Amino acid sequence: MAGGMSETPAAEDTARRVDRLQLVGITGANKVMAGELSRLVRRAFDDIRLPEPVKEGQGAVSYPFDLRTAAVAVMHHRTSSRVYWNLYRSRAERLEPLYDDLCAAIAAEDRPWLRDGLSFSVHPASTQEFAAGARQLVGVLKNALIDTAAKRGLTLRVDVDAPDLVFAIKVFEGVVTVSLDLGGQAMNQRGYRSEGGGVAPLRETVAAMLVMLARHDARTEAFLDPMAGSGTLAIEAACMARGRPLWVGGRRPAAVRLPGFAALCTALDRPLFGDTRPIVFANELDRATFGQAEGNYRRAGVDTEVERKCGDFRDIDPDALRRRVAARGGNPDRGLILCNPPYGERLAPDELNGLYRELGTLWRHLPGWRAGFIVANPEFELAFGQLARVKKPVSNAQLPAYFLLFD
Ligand SMILES: C[S@@+](CC[C@H](N)C(=O)[O-])C[C@H]1O[C@@H](n2cnc3c(N)ncnc32)[C@H](O)[C@@H]1O
Repeated sequence: MAGGMSETPAAEDTARRVDRLQLVGITGANKVMAGELSRLVRRAFDDIRLPEPVKEGQGAVSYPFDLRTAAVAVMHHRTSSRVYWNLYRSRAERLEPLYDDLCAAIAAEDRPWLRDGLSFSVHPASTQEFAAGARQLVGVLKNALIDTAAKRGLTLRVDVDAPDLVFAIKVFEGVVTVSLDLGGQAMNQRGYRSEGGGVAPLRETVAAMLVMLARHDARTEAFLDPMAGSGTLAIEAACMARGRPLWVGGRRPAAVRLPGFAALCTALDRPLFGDTRPIVFANELDRATFGQAEGNYRRAGVDTEVERKCGDFRDIDPDALRRRVAARGGNPDRGLILCNPPYGERLAPDELNGLYRELGTLWRHLPGWRAGFIVANPEFELAFGQLARVKKPVSNAQLPAYFLLFD
């Protein structure tokens, strides 16, 4: 994990042109995002020394732009929800000076993304701070791109449905930033999850963050989600263990349409930790949910790594589980339980506390194992029977919740 984190803006932050790779995630994800990127880059390229990131608010970090680092991020980084190539910044507070700033920057653009015939769309990422509305900001960027390119003899056109590239415009602490969205879509839309189903699944990026926060080490620890629902935690744990590329089922990030990225992304379209053999178990009570999750495991490509069982977690036999770990070549004395138990929408408080207590019982029957939970219920630790060693606020689908780690 990255040691420190700079809060000082880089020198180029005051200029119109910037050249930075930015990772945006949920609030509180900065250290985790930096730690994950560092792990991936170290593994993918021997010769890249990643500098300390600049912290840009509670859920964004940035680095000097580097093509290979950007390619690793957009192909593999599971805890960020957007990966941006930041191109321009302006401190303009109104639309006219913003247009002028952007035109001046685009007129001097020498990076290879700008080419004749390019189609694009613009996504307003977070624009509440600006005096004008999001649509006006989007309009200004579109006009600046098209008008300035035309002056350089290049034709750019807007295509909302199937653009070559997606730009994002966002405003933070008085600075308007224009970026290329290298994913072209939210990074949690990995392509393995089926729509619908009975449970409210964890967002993929949140699940990945929990796996990172729990510091799951797949080389030495088995993994169990006893209440797995649609399987997000088990899938993310298995994928992170092997460093699988995050896009599946024919999905590709928009970056592959940028010069220089295509070959790199193809070369990175493989597990970066292909030698790791994760031992993952997923248990789910509800038969319909269990059945529906099967497609998710298959599409994610982890159905041979994740052993699935439909049943009540209270029927899990810890000794049988430990024997399975050993049979798969793992150490039965090392493991991680990670799950998001029900929050209490459908269960009475007594039932819920009973479930939390039984989770504690299961954990105590697995000596040497650690346990992590994302919970909104303040009674959890009392019922579980122990105070958490780590307690960190995490927002899950706008619900305030805590990540608790017991070891
Ligand atoms: C909040 S959901 C988990 C969602 C999951 N993390 C996902 O991303 O889809 C809680 C799950 O626990 C399951 N569950 C409730 N009681 C259970 C029990 N006694 N044993 C096993 N699973 C149970 C529910 O059916 C539900 O799917």
